[in-house]
Amino acid sequence: MQVTERCRLSDDPLELVLDLGQQPLGNGFMDSINQAEFRYTLQCGFAPTSKLFQLISQPEPELMFHGKYAFMSETSEHMSSHFEQMFTHVVGRKVLSADSFVVEIGSNDGILLKHFAAHQIPHLGVEPAEYVANIAKNKGIRVLNKFFSKEIAAQIHEDYGAADVVLAANVLCHIPSILDLASGIKTMLKADGILIFEDPYLGDVIRLGSYDQIYDEHVFLFSALSVTEIFKRVGMELIDVSHQTTHGGSMRYTLARTGAYSPNPSVSALISSELALGLDDARTFMVFSDRVKESGKKLRQTLEDLRSAGKRVAAYGATSKSTTIYNFAGIGADLISVIYDNSPTKIGRYSPGVHIPIVSESEFASDAPDVTFLAAWNHQQEILGKHQRYGIDGGRWITHVPQVRFL
Ligand code: TYD
Repeated sequence: MQVTERCRLSDDPLELVLDLGQQPLGNGFMDSINQAEFRYTLQCGFAPTSKLFQLISQPEPELMFHGKYAFMSETSEHMSSHFEQMFTHVVGRKVLSADSFVVEIGSNDGILLKHFAAHQIPHLGVEPAEYVANIAKNKGIRVLNKFFSKEIAAQIHEDYGAADVVLAANVLCHIPSILDLASGIKTMLKADGILIFEDPYLGDVIRLGSYDQIYDEHVFLFSALSVTEIFKRVGMELIDVSHQTTHGGSMRYTLARTGAYSPNPSVSALISSELALGLDDARTFMVFSDRVKESGKKLRQTLEDLRSAGKRVAAYGATSKSTTIYNFAGIGADLISVIYDNSPTKIGRYSPGVHIPIVSESEFASDAPDVTFLAAWNHQQEILGKHQRYGIDGGRWITHVPQVRFL
């Protein structure tokens, strides 16, 4: 367990702004409910100088990203097409050929790199989770099965030369040694190389009340303000930002060595909007904390009312995010009977902490519950699109964003 009272970037004392109580690992799906389960206190702190919203304590990375890590990117068609578009965006921004080199940090099952591989663009994925790394390797993608670090960055640079592009999607917010990471990335980049990364966006979390973005793996929730602070320490700057709908609201950040490119006006526009939202002020997160407590209470109450009315309630999507909700709000198998999901790594297992059984989404249509909590709310369009019949037949969806309500 790594507990810090100080900002991982600036070393300033952290202000405690949110307490989500005792939690298991977000992705800690269980084979049996009799297994011993790891728990820790999920609290968030804010550092006013670095503007970094971060976890106060975080389990050791080896506990989270091990060989049986259950998260797989290619479980959603929307994510597959998103990464295809991201590939198009990257090659539109930077001309890449057989002489180029692209590195992806946290390449998961190869959902993004497979496009570079298909275009014969030299690439390397760095992925610590063996199971998903092997899936990528089987697709012909070159993968280094390691945790990314400054030392690994230097090794990659030595073995392969400098990179034109470094990519990361939903990864950098997982890595606590953020300054080491930034300097490792800079080491790998050519003088005109660029870093493009995307992560869940703090501004969306605050606007939507999506506190489920907060769990052990997300040690940071970034904003343009904090990304600027991190990378200016290694001589890099934001040159572009673009909002993405993935993961319930993400930001794509493009960075380069300071002065190498002139920043797009989108950068200063986003920073102004963040200042207007108060993302530089701890009080914003304290107000958010009150909203989170209300949201948890209301969801639990709604589910209890449904149970009292004799309704059968299930959930859709065994997301890591929903681990935070269930354990914070005290929602277990007495309120949500099963979770439907399409990940082979989750079906037949139990949700972390509250032990709701996970069954295949193929059973949803034949075994339709009266009400379904849309735990994978970030895939609303895809899931509701697949199950239009459910609504027509009287089934109801419930969500917690931006507030607890029926869809
Ligand atoms: P994901 O969006 O990756 O969220 P998190 O990062 O919080 O885990 O998780 C989506 C989950 O929903 C994943 O387990 C796959 C599942 N899912 C389905 O079961 N059916 C679907 O149609 C989609 C889109 C996702």
